[in-house]
Amino acid sequence: MTLIRVFSDLDAISHEAASLFIKLAKESVKAQTRFVAALSGGSTPRRLYSLLGSLPYRDQVDWPRVHIFWVDERCVPKDHEESNFKVVFDRLLSKVPIPGTNIHRIKGEELSEHGARDYEAHLKEFFGLKDFPIFDLVLLGMGEDGHTASLFPGSKWLNDTKRLVIPVHLKNPNLDRVTLTLPVLNHARNILFLVTGHSKAKVLAEVMTVKSHRHPYPAARIHPIHGRLLWFIDPESSSKLRSDNWGMGRGEPHQSTA
Ligand code: 6PG
Repeated sequence: MTLIRVFSDLDAISHEAASLFIKLAKESVKAQTRFVAALSGGSTPRRLYSLLGSLPYRDQVDWPRVHIFWVDERCVPKDHEESNFKVVFDRLLSKVPIPGTNIHRIKGEELSEHGARDYEAHLKEFFGLKDFPIFDLVLLGMGEDGHTASLFPGSKWLNDTKRLVIPVHLKNPNLDRVTLTLPVLNHARNILFLVTGHSKAKVLAEVMTVKSHRHPYPAARIHPIHGRLLWFIDPESSSKLRSDNWGMGRGEPHQSTA
């Protein structure tokens, strides 16, 4: 099922996303005693992380039962301003009673190949599996070039069906990253995209129209196998969506405005 919701601005998106996080955490803890989420970097989710780390949201989550992973990481030390771990830690994890053992960061300080191998081994150990992990929630953003996580258009890994985690080398800016792969993302129970801004409107309209699993935009290849896909977007990013985009041809989407 795909659900698209348009909110008045980033603040409204962030409040709704915080409420959804709490709801999913409660449901998952009830059903399977823990809630496992993979979070993204970028600027868009920062307000959400701050809200979850403050009242009234903070006290509505059973933090000792929550496990936080990352969708991707930049290869920088964990106290670097560009670190996705730091973004989440400073705003959220340092403010809530989550045990250190429930924080599963990608080791950005290592070479990307090592960081990827290490994270893949950790995922297999944590989920105790040979197949793909199933996150209760994967939080994603989308770039103006259609990338999501650290999966960029043209990446040789886009068609890989076996790896859980891959190293990524970017030329501009010259930076290594580590990212979960499409199959891992698509196995999640819930995938939530947060997208704002006029600069993403064109790509968003295309991503919403596309039906191909081979589209050059990695964001267009996010199709949960069994789970739910949710888009929380603002009026600017949704400005180029056509009425048939709301149909998307995948499940039973809804449009709502808050
Ligand atoms: C990252 C991300 C990346 C991000 C998009 C959107 O670590 O940068 O995982 O995929 O979500 O680039 O970023 P913005 O929210 O800054 O637009």
